[in-house]
Amino acid sequence: MGAIAVIGLHWGDEGKGRIVDLLVKDCNGVVRYNGGPNAGHTLVVNGETFKLHLIPSGILHRDKINVIGNGVIIDPKVLLEEIDELKGRGFFNGKLYISDRAPILFPYHKIIDELEESFRGSFSLGTTKRGVGPGYTDEINRSGLRMIDLFSDSFEEKLKRVWDLKVKISPCLDGKVNIEDVIEDYKGYIEYLKSYTTDTISLLHDLLAQGKRVLLEGAQGFLLDIDFGTYPYVSSSSSSIGGIFSGSGINPKQLEKIFGVVKAYMTRVGAGPFPTELKDDTGNYLRERGREYGTTTGRPRRCGWLDCVATKYSCIINGVDGIYITKLDVLGGLSEVKVCIGYEYEGERLYSFPSSLEILENCKPIYERFPGWNIEGNELPPNAKSYLKFIEDFLDTKILGVSIGPEREAFIDLC
Ligand code: IMP
Repeated sequence: MGAIAVIGLHWGDEGKGRIVDLLVKDCNGVVRYNGGPNAGHTLVVNGETFKLHLIPSGILHRDKINVIGNGVIIDPKVLLEEIDELKGRGFFNGKLYISDRAPILFPYHKIIDELEESFRGSFSLGTTKRGVGPGYTDEINRSGLRMIDLFSDSFEEKLKRVWDLKVKISPCLDGKVNIEDVIEDYKGYIEYLKSYTTDTISLLHDLLAQGKRVLLEGAQGFLLDIDFGTYPYVSSSSSSIGGIFSGSGINPKQLEKIFGVVKAYMTRVGAGPFPTELKDDTGNYLRERGREYGTTTGRPRRCGWLDCVATKYSCIINGVDGIYITKLDVLGGLSEVKVCIGYEYEGERLYSFPSSLEILENCKPIYERFPGWNIEGNELPPNAKSYLKFIEDFLDTKILGVSIGPEREAFIDLC
C-alpha cells in the first residue's frame, strides 16, 4: 500500500473528478497538493452536484480522510463557504485536515490579480482572478503568511508588516484595502479553521506507515504547470508529478502508481497557445456536447482535437503508469475525428512539444484522421477502438479505462 496519484495531462478539466471517484473506494484518504480556489472539481453524488474548489473530493465519502497539503494556497473565505455549504447539504464528513504550512490568500491578492490582468491588456493571461498568482508570488518572495501564522499571537503584526511593504512597492494598492478590516475578518476565521489545521506531513506519513492508501488529487493540468506548461500562460503552482512531493510532503518512494487523465479531445480556458483549437462548428459541437464551461468562472472552454504530441510530453515527464480517457462519447456523431501527431512550422516538421510560444502559436498541426462513430450502450464500436489503439501506441502508455457518459456506470474498464 502507498500513495496513488491522479494527474490531468492537459490544461485542466480533463475529468479527473470522475477518475478519482472510481479509485477512491480503495483508498483511505484524498490529498490536494497544488493550486487553490482557482481549481474547480464538479462531482455528482446520488444525483446531487457539488462544485469543490479547495476541499478534496473524499469529503463526500463518509469514511475518507481529506488533506489540504502545504502546496495548496488557501482563501479562508472560500474554504469556510465550502465547508458551510457541505454542512448545510449534509455532506461534510468532518475529516478535514489543513496543512499548517499552507500559504494564505488575502483580499489584496485578488486585487493585484485583477489589476495585473487589466494592465496586461491584450496580453492578459485569462486568469481566474482568484489571486492565486500574486499569492504564490508572495510565498516565493517570502512575503507570504501561512496557516500557522494565522494562529500566532503575532499575526496582526506580521500582516501589517507585509502590507506596508506591499503598499510601498505597489502604491496603486494604497486605499484599495482597509488592512484593519482584513485583520478583523481573518481573526474571525481563526476559531473556525483552527480545529482542522494540523501538521499534515506527520499525518500522511503515519497513515502510510500504517499501510493505508491515499490518493493524491491533482488540480489544474500538467500543461498549466509553472515549469513545464505553456509559460506564461500557465497557473502558478506545480501541477506536475513534482508538485506532489513539494505540496504534500510524501516522498517519491511512497508513490505506488501514477495515473494520467486525458480527455478524448482537448480544452483550455483562458489565453495561451492551443495548436489544435477548433474555432468552427466542430469546436462548438464539442463545447455543447461536452458541456465545456468553466466550473470556477463559467467561461466557455476553447475546444480542439486531441494533441498527442503535447499528451506524450505530459506522459513522459509525469512517468505515468497508465492513462484514463474521458468523454469519448462526446466525439460521437462526427463523420471524422482527428489526432495531432506533429506540427509543421516554417516548412519544418516537429515531433516534440516546443518550448517556444511563437512556434506553438503559429504551427500547423499534422493530423491522423479516423472515421467517426456512435456509441450505444457500453460497447465500443470498432472505429472508436481503432482511435484508442492509435493513441495507446502513439503514447506508448496503457489505456486503463474510458468514460463514455456522465453517469458512473458509463465507464469501460480496460485494465
Ligand atoms: P490562475 O490559476 O487563476 O492564475 O489562471 C492561470 C491560467 O490557468 C488561466 O488560463 C486559467 O483559466 C487556468 N486555470 C487555473 N485553474 C484552472 C483549472 O482548475 N482548470 C482549468 N484551467 C485553470
